[in-house]
Amino acid sequence: MLTRRQAVALSLAAIASPTNAAPVEGRVLVFGASGSSGSEFIKHLPKGTRVTAFVRPTSNRDKLAGLDVAFVTGDALNEADVAAACRAGPFATVFAAFQSRPGEPSPYAGTARNIVKAAKAAGVAQLIWIGQVGAAATPVDPAMYPDINFKLFGPALNEMSAAEKAVVEGSVPYTVIRVGAVIVERGKPPQPETGQGRLINDLTKMGPIAYGDLGRLAAECVGQSRCFNTVFHVTDDTLSAQYARWRCRRFATSETIDRC
Ligand SMILES: NC(=O)c1ccc[n+]([C@@H]2O[C@H](COP(=O)([O-])OP(=O)(O)OC[C@H]3O[C@@H](n4cnc5c(N)ncnc54)[C@H](OP(=O)(O)O)[C@@H]3O)[C@@H](O)[C@H]2O)c1
Repeated sequence: MLTRRQAVALSLAAIASPTNAAPVEGRVLVFGASGSSGSEFIKHLPKGTRVTAFVRPTSNRDKLAGLDVAFVTGDALNEADVAAACRAGPFATVFAAFQSRPGEPSPYAGTARNIVKAAKAAGVAQLIWIGQVGAAATPVDPAMYPDINFKLFGPALNEMSAAEKAVVEGSVPYTVIRVGAVIVERGKPPQPETGQGRLINDLTKMGPIAYGDLGRLAAECVGQSRCFNTVFHVTDDTLSAQYARWRCRRFATSETIDRC
């Protein structure tokens, strides 16, 4: 029987070095690898897992420094680039987390279609897609999610919905993990991993999450049948104060934002 102190030490060790499990079966291809979700996903894969990072020629690779990854370069909106990357496998798992960039075309629906097509052709066993609460393969009732600012983010959410539709209808076994609020507060570094973020099946609920927990939860789904052909939301009950501030900012005007 563990003492309380031993149990706490064990759980902290699990947060600090989450990569000590056996390597996952097969190789993993990561789109959006230079980003926050993609790099946290890679960091949480068990040591020895063979990872290929898909980056653009212009991507800043700082978040991948020191990680044992191979690189392929291309634009995920370019069908041929994605097909070539998938053919460079074989990959058992493909992970994707995109975010739009100012002045660039929306990356969501186009990349999803390219990835699903190439992953299917290459016989990929699992596609893990980071989605967004408020976007879904079937029409969303905005009243379900009063914490999402549909007025402000409507066009992006439409694109994300088209992406999720491509993923769930694409005949590659999928895991969609929709984020609600990723906690990054103004003037502060991103919210550190708490170890308390969790996947939930109740798609009427949304909540906060730290990038580290999101990466860990996605990594823990690799090759796991419990995650196949399933859409999850994520939440972290320890971040409720940060979530209240996030919501306030999402609906604030330039006059009211200082109150958040
Ligand atoms: N609700 C919230 O509070 C919230 C907050 C943040 C994120 N999110 C969601 O979480 C998901 C992931 O976001 P994130 O914060 O991890 O994003 P991020 O750190 O901004 O990274 C985005 C990644 O997408 C890549 N990318 C964009 N366009 C591409 C293209 N055409 N080809 C190849 N790569 C491309 C970027 O590459 P480059 O490095 O080359 O640009 C980067 O690696 C998104 O769905 C986002 O909407 C939600």
